[in-house]
Amino acid sequence: MEPMKTVITIDGPSGAGKGTIARLLAKKLGYKYLDTGALYRAVAWKVREERINLDNHGALKKMLEDIEISFNGDKIFVDGMDVSLEIRTAEIGELSSQASAIPVVREGLFSLQRNMCLQGRIVIEGRDTGTTIFPEAENKFFLDASIEERAKRRYEELRIKDSGITLEATIEDIKKRDLRDSTRQNSPLLKTDDMIYIDSTSLNIDEVIEKIIESLKESR
Ligand code: DC
Repeated sequence: MEPMKTVITIDGPSGAGKGTIARLLAKKLGYKYLDTGALYRAVAWKVREERINLDNHGALKKMLEDIEISFNGDKIFVDGMDVSLEIRTAEIGELSSQASAIPVVREGLFSLQRNMCLQGRIVIEGRDTGTTIFPEAENKFFLDASIEERAKRRYEELRIKDSGITLEATIEDIKKRDLRDSTRQNSPLLKTDDMIYIDSTSLNIDEVIEKIIESLKESR
């Protein structure tokens, strides 16, 4: 059997730095990288594009059966269209958080994520990767940071594209998403006992990666 260490899961709240860390870690190990939040954002993008009402679960289900999401390097495509930049707005962030609480959306994206894990040699990050997508992974991490630090990081990212954004609005936004992501019924964000907890508030990127690499279990 393939050793389980070839799947590394990183879960945590919005703005904890999962994306940056997971991407660099994957590069360092020569693994693939899957940003599962980008999948929910891609779905939200299509919801907005097709003006689908989130209460219309039938329409959502149909859309999820038809949608084609693909990656090429750091880029993500929906039905062949590059949406990498468009999915990174505050509006899509909020819509993706709402959409991700709906069971048909989570079910629609499950197999894609699970199948990528089954191929191994992957760093996967999100909210439920170590609990629902690949609970048997041997190396699971929970990446956290203070709410102020997370909001600051998100704000720096968002204001490049949106000059109207404020730090106060970003803090409120993050609080709302934290609450929704961790209290929803389906696969809420959860730290389990088998996850290694890393608080990145006062660590730089290299220090976080170092900590993760030090903690990786050898295959048995
Ligand atoms: O990490 P992110 O901000 O790009 O994720 C966008 C939203 O997608 C987030 O608010 C919650 C949802 N999400 C999820 O429910 N499960 C995941 N594994 C990843 C993201």
